[in-house]
Amino acid sequence: MYFSRFATSLYLLSFAFLLQTIVGTDPLFHFCSSSEKFIDNGTYETNLNKLMGYLYLAAPPTGFGKGSVGEKNDKVNGLALCRGDVSNTDCKACITESSGEIRKRCPDNKAAIIWYDYCLLKYSNVNFFGQVAYQNRFYMWNLNNVSDPASFNQKTKELLSNLAQKAFINSKMYATGELELEESEKLYGLTQCTRDLSSSDCKKCLDDAISELPNCCDGKEGGRVVGGSCNIRYEIYPFVNS
Ligand SMILES: *[C@@H]1O[C@H](CO)[C@@H](O)[C@H](O)[C@H]1NC(C)=O
Ligand SMILES: *[C@@H]1O[C@H](CO)[C@@H](O)[C@H](O)[C@H]1NC(C)=O
Repeated sequence: MYFSRFATSLYLLSFAFLLQTIVGTDPLFHFCSSSEKFIDNGTYETNLNKLMGYLYLAAPPTGFGKGSVGEKNDKVNGLALCRGDVSNTDCKACITESSGEIRKRCPDNKAAIIWYDYCLLKYSNVNFFGQVAYQNRFYMWNLNNVSDPASFNQKTKELLSNLAQKAFINSKMYATGELELEESEKLYGLTQCTRDLSSSDCKKCLDDAISELPNCCDGKEGGRVVGGSCNIRYEIYPFVNS
């Protein structure tokens, strides 16, 4: 079982989150932008709909798509990213699901973001491309404690740092791998960035996420630090399709 905490403070959301996660295909988390709203059936909304249609086609073949639609105040920027191992079909399904769901949850917000296991979708009136999103981050962790936290934490950090090195030089900005633990157990890890980032910013984002591990996942059997530009995850079971 997982518990979560929104990095900035929304502790109360944790329970709702926990319920959702058990169901499985529901979003991991979403965030609606603060104040800026658009008008029903206005140009911004039309542009947003076009952008969603574009991302649905553009992202699945490579697992990543970004685009902008419209001009000036009605310009919408967005991107969709699927987990690196996810098939074209599952990627498409995840983007369809997320674009419907985010519009329900954030019906008139100019900016929003939603995360699933398989994909991430975000849009904004602000051009965020190429910028590391340090805000809107959340954590997830397995409630089970490991028996030797100090050594386990060290291994977790070692694996993920290794995978951060691999991800930032990889064209998909994605890496998975494993590390032997004692007693024939293994640790499995994943690192991934949105591909609008430069490789050096991808590395920065991942290193920063890794530095958050003590805040969420100290001695926990599994953990994730998930943000708008990158995410990391480790588990003691395999969780990606090979
Ligand atoms: C927007 O369009 C929908 C569908 O055409 C319509 O049902 C709705 O009433 C419209 N909303 C406004 C505020 O015009
Ligand atoms: C793990 O450790 C924490 C802190 O010591 C404790 O509160 C929690 O109940 C433990 N979890 C399990 C599943 O035993």
